[in-house]
Amino acid sequence: MVCTDVDVSRVERLAGGQVPIVEEGLPELVREGLASGRLSFTTDNADAVVHAEFTFLCVPTPQGGDGRADMSFIQAAAGEIGPHLPFESIVVNKSTVPVGSTKVVERALGRPDVSVVSNPEFLREGSAVHDFLNPDRIVIGADDESTAIRVAGLFLRTSAPLVVTDPSTAETIKYASNAFLATKVSFVNAVAAMCEAVGADVRQVVLGMGSDPRIGSDFLRPGPGWGGSCFPKDTAALVRIAEDAGYDFSLLKGVIAVNEEQYQRVAQKAVKLAGGSLQGKTAALWGVTFKARTDDLRSSPSLEVAARLRERGAKIQAYDPTLRASIPGLDVRDDPYTACDGASVLVVGTEWDEFRWLDFDKVGELMVNKAVVDARNLLEPATLRRAGFAYEGIGLV
Ligand code: UDX
Repeated sequence: MVCTDVDVSRVERLAGGQVPIVEEGLPELVREGLASGRLSFTTDNADAVVHAEFTFLCVPTPQGGDGRADMSFIQAAAGEIGPHLPFESIVVNKSTVPVGSTKVVERALGRPDVSVVSNPEFLREGSAVHDFLNPDRIVIGADDESTAIRVAGLFLRTSAPLVVTDPSTAETIKYASNAFLATKVSFVNAVAAMCEAVGADVRQVVLGMGSDPRIGSDFLRPGPGWGGSCFPKDTAALVRIAEDAGYDFSLLKGVIAVNEEQYQRVAQKAVKLAGGSLQGKTAALWGVTFKARTDDLRSSPSLEVAARLRERGAKIQAYDPTLRASIPGLDVRDDPYTACDGASVLVVGTEWDEFRWLDFDKVGELMVNKAVVDARNLLEPATLRRAGFAYEGIGLV
């Protein structure tokens, strides 16, 4: 496997066995591949593809200004490799691209002998290696059966169900999957708000609901809203794709609106626990990444909440186990305790396990007001209240 990227320093680090992101199991996998000679890295796109029967396109498709996915990276990559691909080879598109993009890639390649196939990935950050080795389905979208069979041959080692379909359907499966998962999280966040209003406990509600196999208990953890590199851009793109095709996806618009409200709700809780105002006060923030077990800050709900706290006049002292560089607007501290120094409220924004086991008496002594907004329902409310904290989770009584 030859991997190519435009980022020279990234390629150099990977070639030396250094993985530039936090991803469990990935450094071991990369080093194993390098040592066995089965994996190499280059910045020379032509060199990478010239002997490849299969070329995987895994380039980013960020959100453009109008909500549509920005296809410029994928078009540029396809245009560059097109002339160098072997005769009758296959280009497999892993990037999440608008429905119908296979045709766009075909045009950019300019190679009628080369087939383009959609093969979306469903990896979660933080467990990407596990998800890759243990997929729950393989989706192949190809225009003809013989191409689909050749691509399916790459997945013989897995027993996961194989969905072989046309490219547009495969591309829609990816968007619909992410949109549905985002819907589940927004749904539980809305139920949590309802629980607070009527005095119910969302944890018990989820337990009761999730036992029904038609509902399932996965992806029903209330939190500060969903974020990350996929859900925000993919839900926005799907609304746009639908709109462009003449369908008003109002359900998904509602899902996105509930998510925006959630950032605001968490910020309002912090204001309340800080005594009604954050003007000129300090808020501590534990966890900045969009979820635990990753160092990814893209569209992080924690950062969304931090921005809303700043709007209300707060200064933010933040701690995250993976955060090394400073971030504009955040005073990043080296440990969770100093982040609480002089704070009027502590917000738990990411569900890092280590936060559970901290010394809350010490935390309380450092704060000027003992108050915690636990936006991940991570901590034990009784322990916090016993230690003299005002505590608010999400959807708890
Ligand atoms: C997601 C999809 O799960 C994956 O299949 C796809 O390939 C890429 O997008 P990822 O972005 O890694 O993966 O994050 P995920 O674990 O799905 O979480 C997304 C967001 O939802 C995070 O902000 C997370 O904290 C939040 N979330 C998730 C909740 O708030 N509650 C939950 O119950 C689950």
